[in-house]
Amino acid sequence: MTVDAALTRRALLIAGGATAAAVAVAGDATAASPLFLHGVASGDPLPDGILLWTRVTPDAQSAPGSGAGPTTTVTWQIATDASFAGVVRSGEVTTGPERDHTVKVDVRGLQAATTYWYRFGVAGRWSPTGRTLTAPATDAAVALLRLGVVSCSNWEAGYFAPYRLLAQRGDLQAVVHLGDYLYEYASGGFTAGGTVVRQAQPTHEIISLADYRIRHAQYKTDPDAQALHAAVPWIITWDDHEVANDMWAGGAENHDPATEGSFAARVAAARQAYAEWMPVRLAFDPESGEGHIYRRLQFGKLAELSMLDLRSYRSQQASGAAVDDPARTITGDDQMAWLKQGLAASTAQWKIVGNPDMIARVDVGTLPAWLLGPVGKLLGIPSNGYAINTDQWDGYNADRDELVNHLRANNVRDTVLITGDIHSSWANELTTLSTLNSPTAVEFVVPSVTSDNVNDFVGVPPGLVGPIAASIVHAANPHVKWAELDGHGYGVLEVRPESCRMDWYHVKERTDPRTTASKVRSFKVNAGVSRLVSS
Ligand SMILES: [Fe+2]
Repeated sequence: MTVDAALTRRALLIAGGATAAAVAVAGDATAASPLFLHGVASGDPLPDGILLWTRVTPDAQSAPGSGAGPTTTVTWQIATDASFAGVVRSGEVTTGPERDHTVKVDVRGLQAATTYWYRFGVAGRWSPTGRTLTAPATDAAVALLRLGVVSCSNWEAGYFAPYRLLAQRGDLQAVVHLGDYLYEYASGGFTAGGTVVRQAQPTHEIISLADYRIRHAQYKTDPDAQALHAAVPWIITWDDHEVANDMWAGGAENHDPATEGSFAARVAAARQAYAEWMPVRLAFDPESGEGHIYRRLQFGKLAELSMLDLRSYRSQQASGAAVDDPARTITGDDQMAWLKQGLAASTAQWKIVGNPDMIARVDVGTLPAWLLGPVGKLLGIPSNGYAINTDQWDGYNADRDELVNHLRANNVRDTVLITGDIHSSWANELTTLSTLNSPTAVEFVVPSVTSDNVNDFVGVPPGLVGPIAASIVHAANPHVKWAELDGHGYGVLEVRPESCRMDWYHVKERTDPRTTASKVRSFKVNAGVSRLVSS
């Protein structure tokens, strides 16, 4: 989500007037050892493997971003019980200032669909214990996959209660984070409706490798983030703010080469810190810049999850008729080919796509944009009308058409996009100009963990302006079955052979570290039919 988009939404408004064990583990993670100040994490579950992560602070010199401190030997253990009586794999790795004292271990040789406990040690002192789960065997019949789904966690805008509440459930196989895990702004640059709830470190905008490392480290001191990282594996991708607002392949809205230096150097710094600090099995070498984060994970015969990167290869944002230009792309050619091939070849019942930026078309105004066609041709109006937010797929119509046409041509059913970025909750059917009455897939958009949305921008309590804006959205967008623009929180996705359902939870008050949440809405899609049902 972008500041630009926020302003556009403001314009729109003006125009319209657990198991006990899991909880115990989460609790342990908050009792930080001075050696393990940033907790433990796991990610990218495979049927036989899991990625483990931690960061060690062997002495006072070894502060994040310092580039100093000793090379340190770290032991790791993974066991079938929380007391580590049954250690099944263990080993030793070294880390040091060259990788900011972070540790990543890609453990293989594990059993499928199994809960494990893991920990790290330095000279006999142990980290908090983490709990994780491997994926089911590729050919296993799986009755239920339950995922927490989050995006847009802004330190200065509040507390990460959605992480705490997801950690306490104890019934999730994994958590999917769709991007904007952190924000790059200087303190005060992006707040809770003008209030800094807690100050970001460093206080200036992050640009250098040291800056990105320090900001990542701060986010990893959050007790709720530590609890959720320690409770379940995460499956993550990045959006723009992991580098800079409204990033595209060659720059970003929030990057000025004249004062902030080479954008390529900034991306390299941000990507290196990300690779060090995040529990992701990157098919990506931060030193050479080669490889990619987009990847696919499988959960038996029930589901596969394709995680997208919509920032590294995209054309620069554009407006007007340029949004129709087939030469412009949001995915890049290689990723689009990979996505299309994977979706068509998949034997999984459900094709879930981790999609950082919303794909459903959003129009404003009293006339549906597609009715403007003949006039639009004459006047140079883009075929889908003037897009509100050209930073999402609305700014890249050709890629959206290409994906939808491919799904239809290959009779690919049961595709579900799960989306973040726009700090609000949506249930959409995916249509295009040529498929208005025949949705091809559905999209569930989760709200921000903390980042500002409509009522925050206007500076009024929830429930006043959001519904007005939502009613305008509904009027012009029949494929949008639900839009709620005020709430912060998270989603829980339940995938079963016969249906796929998203439950949306909104927190009461994001600036209260002890806030609670309640379920506000559920939509599901039944197998074989790309139509949403309120449930
Ligand atoms: Fe965001």
